[in-house]
Amino acid sequence: KKRIGILTSGGDCAGLNAVIRAVVHRAVLTYGWQVVGLKEGTQGFLHRPVAYQALDLRMVDGNMMRMGGTILGTTNRGDPFAYPMADGTLKDRSDEIIGGYRELGLDALIGIGGDGSFAILRKLAQKGGLNLVGIPKTIDNDLGLTEVSVGYDTAVGVAVEALDRLQPTAASHQRVMVLEVMGRDAGHIALAAGIAGGADVILIPEIQYTIESIAAKIKQVRATGRNFALVVVSEAVKTLDGGGAMKEYQGGEKRYGGIGAYIGDKIAEATGAETRVTVLGHVQRGSMPSPRDRLIASAFGVHAVDLIAEGQFDRMVAWSNREVISVPIADAIARYACVEADGPLVKTARGLGISLGD
Ligand code: F6P
Repeated sequence: KKRIGILTSGGDCAGLNAVIRAVVHRAVLTYGWQVVGLKEGTQGFLHRPVAYQALDLRMVDGNMMRMGGTILGTTNRGDPFAYPMADGTLKDRSDEIIGGYRELGLDALIGIGGDGSFAILRKLAQKGGLNLVGIPKTIDNDLGLTEVSVGYDTAVGVAVEALDRLQPTAASHQRVMVLEVMGRDAGHIALAAGIAGGADVILIPEIQYTIESIAAKIKQVRATGRNFALVVVSEAVKTLDGGGAMKEYQGGEKRYGGIGAYIGDKIAEATGAETRVTVLGHVQRGSMPSPRDRLIASAFGVHAVDLIAEGQFDRMVAWSNREVISVPIADAIARYACVEADGPLVKTARGLGISLGD
């Protein structure tokens, strides 16, 4: 009888609990295995005794698939190979994690994470002989070799709902509404939400904008008799004049919530429009998973357990062409998957007359 571990790592998103539920169902019902959930990602392995929770069917049934967040907790604190200690030094604690895996008597470990987490988990697996299987999750959808990651669809849904709510108030007040969305260094959320939410302008980090081009689009919209507009800006879009202006809009060291205000001001200057800015932030991560995210989470969870049963490790489950497949984790994280400048959604946006700012 096998004993497998599962952990959630990096930023949370909707659908993590649905993955955990699926893994427990498959492991317990099909294979009769035990499942243990590590607390707060790899942090759980650093405690002695190891901080974990036995996961049985009773625990994961009921409301769990619907819940946002992760019942196991997560962390993006600390690479165990250079772990930040209280005294300010960095310490290699990888052996403690590998020891924790042995202490629990695990046969395999399922890591639910994004590229950063996978790079670390893989390094640990290679050093300590851990049998690792990865499940991709990130609202940013920036992992390679999978069409979707758990959490992306829900995040897009939240951003579309925001646009649905901004549109009537934009129209009532004849304003240009700027919505800043997350996505880390990729424009996937902005592009998808902007198309589905009827934006007039979508700015993503993969395409360089000019204020003139954005202003021209707003003027063109006005020429059709419509006196409001919706603009979606991805958080990683840069200011035109580099670091200086960014600091001013960022409010110190924080990386989020800056560029929307900057673009809003620039649009107001260039067009005379009244602009208002909404920064969506973590609202995109913390809701009930959409039906599609629940489906992806369920399919990924089942398939990951099957990979363990087949003895296939160092692989990540992935969605490809209507199928669940698996790919080497190393290949999935080898290249950052941002928006392709001639990809289908960019073409769709242009085909709809949406300005991408260029
Ligand atoms: O990677 C997910 C994500 O939500 C990004 O979109 C965003 O840039 C970042 O994480 C926010 O991180 P934190 O939760 O640490 O503020």
